[in-house]
Amino acid sequence: MSVQILNSPRARGLMVLTAHPEGCRVLAERQIARAKAAFTKPLAAAEGKTALILGSTTFGYGSSTAIALKEAGFSKIIGLGYETPPTFRKEKVAMAPAGWYLTAALHNAYPGQRTYFADGFADETRDRVIADLKEAGDGIDLLLYSVAAPRRTHLGETWSSALKVIGEPLDVVGLDYSSGEHKEVSLEPASELEIEQTRRVMGGDDLDLWANALLYAGLANPGFKVASLSYIGPEFEPLRRIYWDGALGGAKKHIDETTRSLNARLDSGLGGAAFTSMNPAVVTGASVAIPAMLKYIADYLGVVDNGVGVYDDPLEVGINFARALYGDGEPWRNMLDDEGRLRLDAKELDPELQTAIGALWGDAKPGAVPERTARGLELFKKEFMQLFGWQVDGVDYDVPVDFSPALGEDQGVVHLIAE
Ligand SMILES: NC(=O)c1ccc[n+]([C@@H]2O[C@H](COP(=O)([O-])OP(=O)(O)OC[C@H]3O[C@@H](n4cnc5c(N)ncnc54)[C@H](O)[C@@H]3O)[C@@H](O)[C@H]2O)c1
Repeated sequence: MSVQILNSPRARGLMVLTAHPEGCRVLAERQIARAKAAFTKPLAAAEGKTALILGSTTFGYGSSTAIALKEAGFSKIIGLGYETPPTFRKEKVAMAPAGWYLTAALHNAYPGQRTYFADGFADETRDRVIADLKEAGDGIDLLLYSVAAPRRTHLGETWSSALKVIGEPLDVVGLDYSSGEHKEVSLEPASELEIEQTRRVMGGDDLDLWANALLYAGLANPGFKVASLSYIGPEFEPLRRIYWDGALGGAKKHIDETTRSLNARLDSGLGGAAFTSMNPAVVTGASVAIPAMLKYIADYLGVVDNGVGVYDDPLEVGINFARALYGDGEPWRNMLDDEGRLRLDAKELDPELQTAIGALWGDAKPGAVPERTARGLELFKKEFMQLFGWQVDGVDYDVPVDFSPALGEDQGVVHLIAE
């Protein structure tokens, strides 16, 4: 136990080193309350089901979908994420991961939940999870792949993903988080090797290993579904070049191939299905790592605040996901595009909204930003800080809190990351 007051975060720009336990708890409770209100009665098709969610530990898509599925009627969520314990220097908190406090809050709200803090890419992690599932007799109804990682170690090799374009270099006006001004961003083209390494990290290989492990171990229940989260975004340049036509998009295209081939096997073998879920852009740790994405999301939020279009946060998207998969009459079957991908991104791709965002991009010059971009950045910053439990309305940051809550086997958390 380490009770102390921390009333402002230690941060370096977009690197927030200290999350706030009470802020994370309150935010998690509010998300749970919103999901409860969305599912006033459980969805019959979701009742009693079990999900394995890889990438469930941050305030991002994994945890919000976990909350939505639980409130929709799932009886058990088994989660996994890469989280290391809080650290202290001279008893003062030095590093405090939001995932630690979010997981503590979720396990408190949902007794019986199990979460692994582990490297999901490691064979030993998969072996251990499979062994535990077998021992507990837990079959899996849904495998949700929501990992966003900068690197992957496999077979003794480590690869990094490259947030680069393909082909010609790209000069674009981005947004600087600290100054709030537009600035020129130059994106280098990825080499062939970098494109391949990005595919190895963020493509479908690891998903395939997990899905096969569940299938071969006899742990995939009849009707077993596999969903891998992805992003395509609007067609307008340069966003297309940065994401879908860039190195990361190459990896996401590989996920499409992987889910298509899994789908063919599941459909004939288990009456199940596999697909990519095209989710909309939201404010998470992963989205801000992509150059120029900050400007796009700030413009998106600013335009919506100005009365055009809709922005759904990760919880809203998680609720839509649960309804699509488990609502009456299997709504997901009518929500697949020509490539067999579940489309949850229609609101982001609304033409009127995209025209308004496109106009802000067309006018962008280095220096001061228009009012809508400035307002969007303000909204972005608040939602971003909330990912770490800061700026949560109603939380008194001058009250001492425990930065090191117990989070071990007794709380349902299995630690597999070597200290
Ligand atoms: N953020 C967006 O705008 C957006 C939009 C559409 C789709 N997506 C997709 O959704 C998925 C999740 O993204 P997010 O934005 O929620 O990201 P996030 O950073 O909030 O979550 C990533 C999760 O992956 C886990 N993780 C990272 N490395 C790991 C490892 N080695 N082993 C185990 N777990 C590991 C983290 O602990 C965390 O739980 C990604 O596939 C992303 O491409 C994101």
